[in-house]
Amino acid sequence: LELQMNLEEIEKGGYEHFMLKEIYEQPRAIKDTYRGRLLADQGLIRMAGIDQNLEKFTNANRIIIVACGTSWHAGLVAEYIFEDLARIPVEVEYASEFRYRNPVITDKDVLIAISQSGETADTLAAIKLAKEKGAFVFGVCNVVGSSIARESDAGAYTHAGPEIGVASTKAFTTQITVLTLIALKLAKAKGVFSESKYHEYLSELETIPAKVEKALESNPLIEIISDVYKDSTNCLYLGRGYNFPVALEGALKLKEISYIHAEGYPAAEMKHGPIALIDEHMPVFVIATKKGHYEKVVSNIQEIKSRKGKIIAIVTEGDEQVTDLADHVIEVPETLESLTPLLTTIPLQLLSYHIAVMRGCNVDQPRNLAKSVTVE
Ligand code: AGP
Repeated sequence: LELQMNLEEIEKGGYEHFMLKEIYEQPRAIKDTYRGRLLADQGLIRMAGIDQNLEKFTNANRIIIVACGTSWHAGLVAEYIFEDLARIPVEVEYASEFRYRNPVITDKDVLIAISQSGETADTLAAIKLAKEKGAFVFGVCNVVGSSIARESDAGAYTHAGPEIGVASTKAFTTQITVLTLIALKLAKAKGVFSESKYHEYLSELETIPAKVEKALESNPLIEIISDVYKDSTNCLYLGRGYNFPVALEGALKLKEISYIHAEGYPAAEMKHGPIALIDEHMPVFVIATKKGHYEKVVSNIQEIKSRKGKIIAIVTEGDEQVTDLADHVIEVPETLESLTPLLTTIPLQLLSYHIAVMRGCNVDQPRNLAKSVTVE
């Protein structure tokens, strides 16, 4: 047992949990994922799986994204990116719903399956159904040679390295990295992007690993904030636009490792009901970065404050307006609107990690959960 303990310590690289190690590996994992693909100085994105099937994507009626859990959240981010940048219609489906609802699929559809493990039963079943109906299937997996990778017609691996913690972190940000590369490549192929805008995106993408490092520097502050809210029984996560899926993902992280009930919501939806929940016992985590409906999020924050809700805001470095309103602010560096999810998710990962540790939960193996849901 002693040897086993030592081996695990070595594997954790000095971190207390695999999850924390994997959160801190994200700058390298993102870089490893775009290495050899993002050639910013040449103004190129090289992805064989896309290059060899370009017309299928550019002529597709729509892209259907199927996934589960955190991978489904990455799919939601991709929906915003693909529609906003590449102007291709996208719909995102829970694989478990898609496979049973007799969906309309044709050979003009491209299906993108996102799965860290590449073994999720519902996602695999959704792929088989789509192939039977003639769709072209593209897999985004983290495990080489996994069932979903093998079942796909083509694909692109994330290069996050093994993700041991049940709660997915570096898989999420590397999935978004791959999906962003694909969307940029298709936007260029469709002539939707000017050369200068394309180069702006490529070079900004190269700055993301360093900006993730910067976001990680808030860890000590996040630990202090976590201590304030660790005994909450319910939490709300709010975001708009590109950061709406990040709000969902932040809530899932908290639920699955700290067992606190949490819900992600589009910030503007609060007035259609959920704002009735707000009182001084309800912490509200709001993603309020500069790019993306900032002024509207500020007014959402004011609505919550007038009902004595506690606000923890994720803001862009140097923010003043939200900083004056919120009970706590955590800063992330500025970036392009479509790339903010890669940064705003970092503080929410750390928050859920610290709260779970303070609650004495088993962070790497939360109760009732498996790393890969290979059963239906
Ligand atoms: C996320 O933190 C969970 N571990 C879970 O929701 C996971 O994302 C889901 O089971 C999908 O797994 P996959 O990416 O391996 O298909």
